[in-house]
Amino acid sequence: MSMIDMIKDKARKNVKTIVLPEGDEVRTVEASVIIKKEGLAEPILIGNAEKIAAVAKEIGVDITGVKIEDPENSAKNEEYTKQLYELRKAKGLTEEDAAKLVLDPMYYGIMMVKLGDADGLVSGAVHTTGDMLRPALQIIKTKPGMKIVSSSFLMDCPNKSLGENGLLVYADCVVVPCPTAEELASIAIAAADTAKVLCGIEEPRVALLSFSTKGSAKHELVTKVQQAVEIAHQQAPDLLLDGEMQFDAALVPEVGASKAKGSPVAGRANVLVFPDLQAGNIGYKITQRIGGADCFAVLQGLAKPCNDLSRGCSVADIVNTVACTAVQAQ
Ligand code: ACO
Repeated sequence: MSMIDMIKDKARKNVKTIVLPEGDEVRTVEASVIIKKEGLAEPILIGNAEKIAAVAKEIGVDITGVKIEDPENSAKNEEYTKQLYELRKAKGLTEEDAAKLVLDPMYYGIMMVKLGDADGLVSGAVHTTGDMLRPALQIIKTKPGMKIVSSSFLMDCPNKSLGENGLLVYADCVVVPCPTAEELASIAIAAADTAKVLCGIEEPRVALLSFSTKGSAKHELVTKVQQAVEIAHQQAPDLLLDGEMQFDAALVPEVGASKAKGSPVAGRANVLVFPDLQAGNIGYKITQRIGGADCFAVLQGLAKPCNDLSRGCSVADIVNTVACTAVQAQ
């Protein structure tokens, strides 16, 4: 069974409510019908009901039973405005601005999740990553004990000898441009958690990547990764985690054995932590485009799950991301 089929099975076992703020977007409308029909989640489309019905008619799908929330005509507006104002007044948000923001489907959806009217949110078919992330970071905030929000890419590789039967978790490829050593440690611990919760990997083996393996090169960038390893060991002493190491030392048993002898992770890592966003973002795209891996991104470290789509996403991508979000919400 593929990784995404396993995640979908898990989502069906405990159905969660997932809000889709881009409710009148064509792919989103089509995806909502599939999500409902396959029992992956209870989808809620945000937008004008007539507009959404017109889109459904145009593409020939039946949206009967799919819930719709229209911020312009919602009984919840007053409560959401009040709560949003309370949450952000210290940052200079006025009541008037809060009332305007609540009419924005992205903020309305985030408030639904914040106040427990939905379990998670998926957006990004229209909005950029930053537009989607900022309200989530400002309002949902991090999980208790979690320093930062970051992301993991679940890479399902055709070569089943890699990682966990071909499955690798890459972090961070979306959010934190230049992590400090503390932030890198936090990303590594969060990625191990994602590997467990979402991918069912019972023993995450985390490698912190670099262009150096165990001191083979000396540079401030290498020192930062070494410091991150130390911090992560202090914060999660039971986690199998090691570094710094090169990509091949992390993945290839013979290279791991020769370059990082005795490491519990080298040569058999299933979670790979990149030193910064440039490396991570380039790394996942190489694995996808040249390595032929299927990949799915999720945010980690948020108090409640919200996930981003690529603007070039397909209907299937939206369905898959909703399934991942639903499992995170469990
Ligand atoms: N974790 C937790 N909170 C955060 C984080 C984080 N990683 N980053 C910012 N915040 C918080 C801030 O503390 C602040 O909170 P406050 O307003 O309550 O004080 C709030 O979020 C806004 O912070 P800013 O610094 O003003 O936000 P910024 O404008 O820098 O945006 C963002 C943050 C969107 C995450 C930015 O770092 C970013 O653009 N990252 C890269 C996104 C991207 O383009 N990725 C690549 C493409 S995606 C792909 O290829 C799949």
